[in-house]
Amino acid sequence: MGRAFVYVILGGGVAAGYAAHEFVKKDVPHGELCIISDEPVAPYERPALSKGFLLPEAPARLPSFHCCVGSNEERLTPKWYKEHGIELILGTRVKSADVKRKTLLTTAGETISYKTLIVATGARPLKLEEFGVTISDADNVCYLRNLADAQRLVNVMESSTGGNAIVIGGGYIGMECAASLVINKVNVTMVFPEAHCMGRLFTPKIASYYEEFYKSKGVKFVKGTVLTSFDSNSEGKVTAVNLRDGTKLPADMVVVGIGIRPNTSLFEGQLTLEKGGIKVNGLMQSSNASVYAVGDVAAFPVKVFGDIRRLEHVDAARKAASHAVTAIMNPDKSIDFDYLPFFYSRVFTLSWQFYGDNIGEAIHFGDYSGTTFGAYWISKGRIVGSFLEGGTKDEYEALSKMTRLKPEVDDLAELERQGLDFATTV
Ligand code: FDA
Ligand code: NAD
Repeated sequence: MGRAFVYVILGGGVAAGYAAHEFVKKDVPHGELCIISDEPVAPYERPALSKGFLLPEAPARLPSFHCCVGSNEERLTPKWYKEHGIELILGTRVKSADVKRKTLLTTAGETISYKTLIVATGARPLKLEEFGVTISDADNVCYLRNLADAQRLVNVMESSTGGNAIVIGGGYIGMECAASLVINKVNVTMVFPEAHCMGRLFTPKIASYYEEFYKSKGVKFVKGTVLTSFDSNSEGKVTAVNLRDGTKLPADMVVVGIGIRPNTSLFEGQLTLEKGGIKVNGLMQSSNASVYAVGDVAAFPVKVFGDIRRLEHVDAARKAASHAVTAIMNPDKSIDFDYLPFFYSRVFTLSWQFYGDNIGEAIHFGDYSGTTFGAYWISKGRIVGSFLEGGTKDEYEALSKMTRLKPEVDDLAELERQGLDFATTV
């Protein structure tokens, strides 16, 4: 049994939703495009899962956050896909791919063939088992990647009101979930191996601001150590977390955010991989001309820095998806993707944005005891990255434009003095 499509999007997350939107803008004929997803729902804005979805009052629920509401575009409900002749093959996992034959095989035994494939399989959370810790699949140990995980986290959180949550990992998931847990009246202790939170991006000074803010909300930090084992009760529920330094922390629930691995396994040995992802060119095309890759799973040339990167952020997934579809549908007009990395987060009343690269020397500016402050990163005499907390829309736009220009700076003291004014006047 089998079906044939001209275009197949494998994966039904953020990149899939934005790709479908672009296909429709390019007048894809009815019946030519399908999306295959192992999730049971149409593509949605994944960032909502660690923010609005976890709110105690009026939480975000589907269909409110289907793509592409995250960039103020229309909301693509299942009805929208139907009206535009796009087949949504949901709750269906692809178990193997044959790029020579241009076919995908689902776990239900169906073969789906394509002329052009867009791989948008995203990533999976790293599991504690991969670090030698067992029973992390206990009922009250939560990971967060998809809607089912988020619903489970809500249920566990609701049954832990007034109790203790241990958050393992000081990255994005750790920081955003810790804030949501506090808002839900759960006591939080964050445990991570680095000297400060958001080790991949923040400087110690930036991290210190957020850690102090979190402490003022009651969050405790245990840094420079990892967990080695769990204590559990007769029902299999975790009751305490044991750390390498010998500490035992009582726990009603645990949230784990220790990084991700891109879902490349279907294509290993068939496509060229780099940086843990599927290597693509500036058109998001892989080493096989019929296969494109976008989102968390793709390693693409970042022109502005002249290297290949894999970005794990929603803006890159959205824009790369649109770019790939333009390259597929209008090959004569296609140009190389020219993307400036952009990351953001919102926690409590705080909100920051980052553009570019965090290499070289960091110059901090603004009021670190107030609400608006930031940093520039200078490498080889040029600004290559910028960060701002508490900015306005215009200030963030100015920061983005300035960073893209990579302006030369020779007087770092003057740059520090000018601070945000430097970006708004460049
Ligand atoms: P995504 O993970 O969105 O989609 C992949 C899809 O493929 C899933 O539906 C998956 O089930 C499916 N799939 C995988 N293998 C399959 C198979 N074999 N068969 C069928 N289906 C398969 N970024 C940011 O910039 N700001 C933010 O605030 C946040 N917040 C945030 C919160 C949370 C909780 C998470 C988990 C992530 C974020 N992110 C983020 C990151 C952002 O969501 C992420 O970069 C994008 O979702 C990537 O989009 P993709 O489409 O590549 O993967
Ligand atoms: P991450 O890479 O941001 O952070 C991983 C953290 O895990 C590290 O900071 C470290 O503290 C910790 N860690 C690593 N090994 C550990 C170990 N053995 N024990 C304990 N801690 C360990 O990954 P994440 O926070 O899991 O986020 C998952 C994905 O979701 C990422 O791709 C991220 O970009 C994405 N995400 C992004 C946002 C955003 O952009 N605002 C929000 C949520 C999630």
